[in-house]
Amino acid sequence: MPRPRVSVYLGVSVDLLIAREDGRLDWLERFHDPAGGDYGYAAFFSTIDTLVIGRATYDTVLGFDRWPWEGKRVVVFSHRPIAPRPGVEQAEGALAPALEALFALGARHVYLDGGALVRQGLREAVVDALTLSIVPHLLGSGRPLFERGGPELGLRLLGAEAFPSGLVQLRYERSEVGSPGAGGEAR
Ligand SMILES: NC(=O)c1ccc[n+]([C@@H]2O[C@H](COP(=O)([O-])OP(=O)(O)OC[C@H]3O[C@@H](n4cnc5c(N)ncnc54)[C@H](OP(=O)(O)O)[C@@H]3O)[C@@H](O)[C@H]2O)c1
Repeated sequence: MPRPRVSVYLGVSVDLLIAREDGRLDWLERFHDPAGGDYGYAAFFSTIDTLVIGRATYDTVLGFDRWPWEGKRVVVFSHRPIAPRPGVEQAEGALAPALEALFALGARHVYLDGGALVRQGLREAVVDALTLSIVPHLLGSGRPLFERGGPELGLRLLGAEAFPSGLVQLRYERSEVGSPGAGGEAR
């Protein structure tokens, strides 16, 4: 059986921000594929069984018209009580032991989401794959994906695709040798 994986799948501005300061995603939502595609999101989402997310992401999603993660196990990291929802659990502290516990319970593919959680996942070296969908927009200020002083990590480019909307999607996996990868398909 393949070992469990942890993936990140994020929409970012050209200046690598993931949300406005107040959490709004309007700048990102404008970039739906005119052809009606979803940039591979549904295909990716069908492969994951568990989401591990930060509290701010959970609170944002609770405000959506529709709960988007039906049928998936969701673990929310927070130091404060979260709004309860069926299928949603709470955790705090280090990610690695929480992920190990999920793997022991049968999780095979975890979707790690939320800027703080992704940065922690990179610091703890638990992220296997990273898909960045870069929308053609400079946000100027907002919530960052990366931080100064984060870990150095070699990545291997698996694919790069430009869409008619102007969105460019880069798919990476962690390079075990720790050096920048070359190759991958580009369209
Ligand atoms: N562009 C995209 O693709 C994308 C994807 C996901 C989310 N977003 C947006 O990004 C924003 C959220 O990102 P974010 O970086 O601000 O926050 P986040 O990672 O979603 O959540 C951060 C919060 O999670 C809790 N937390 C983090 N690490 C923890 C730990 N180890 N133990 C316990 N609690 C922990 C803390 O909440 P407490 O204060 O409760 O402890 C912290 O303030 C939202 O606006 C969301 O909609 C965008």
